[in-house]
Amino acid sequence: MEMMPTIFFFFLQLLFFSSSNAAVQDFCVGDLTGPEGPAGYSCKKPAIVTVDDFVFSGLGKAGNTSNIIRAAVTPAFSAQFPGLNGLGLSIARLDLAVEGVIPLHTHPGGSELLVVVQGTICAGFISSSANTVYFKTLKKGDIMVFPQGLLHFQINGGGIPAIGFVSFSSPSPGLQITAFALFANNLPSELVEKTTFLDDAQVKKLKAVLGGTG
Ligand SMILES: *[C@@H]1O[C@H](CO)[C@@H](O)[C@H](O)[C@H]1NC(C)=O
Repeated sequence: MEMMPTIFFFFLQLLFFSSSNAAVQDFCVGDLTGPEGPAGYSCKKPAIVTVDDFVFSGLGKAGNTSNIIRAAVTPAFSAQFPGLNGLGLSIARLDLAVEGVIPLHTHPGGSELLVVVQGTICAGFISSSANTVYFKTLKKGDIMVFPQGLLHFQINGGGIPAIGFVSFSSPSPGLQITAFALFANNLPSELVEKTTFLDDAQVKKLKAVLGGTG
């Protein structure tokens, strides 16, 4: 029984240290003037935070789909919507014109949930363990989840523009489009050919289309 006061004291200490060390904050609105680290942006001083830090009005209008993929992704990630900083989630709007496609891509930082609100979208992802493909044509109101890091795509499945919203389990999920990673930079064609098994003519053609050199 002699242990009891000691244990009690230990718990009191624990309580004291945990309450003094871990500052409980309601939010950490990102200070976009500083760099973004692995844990996000540093926090804006609460005194200068306003309701507008928690509201983003950019998803009401269509993105510009006059481009090679005939599609647009309008992100509301922490870099555009600083109120998300530190909260573990974000959202974006997808616009897919007729024939539009969001080419094969990954988000290294988060899983994705897609909800179709107009038109149809053929969407799918590929597993990393067995390269199994899971794809389906989604209609208005359907949702599909894309597990973190896996290659996936969205293609307009019909004759009218399609719109979807995608939410992510990260305020800054990142985006890497495979075709751009391979053909829109200056990695020498010879190395692209070796690493993809494509022939020289195909690689040069794709570099020309996507803006790569070398
Ligand atoms: C859409 O993008 C194209 C190509 O960059 C540009 O020429 C056009 O002006 C843009 N349209 C609007 C409405 O911003």
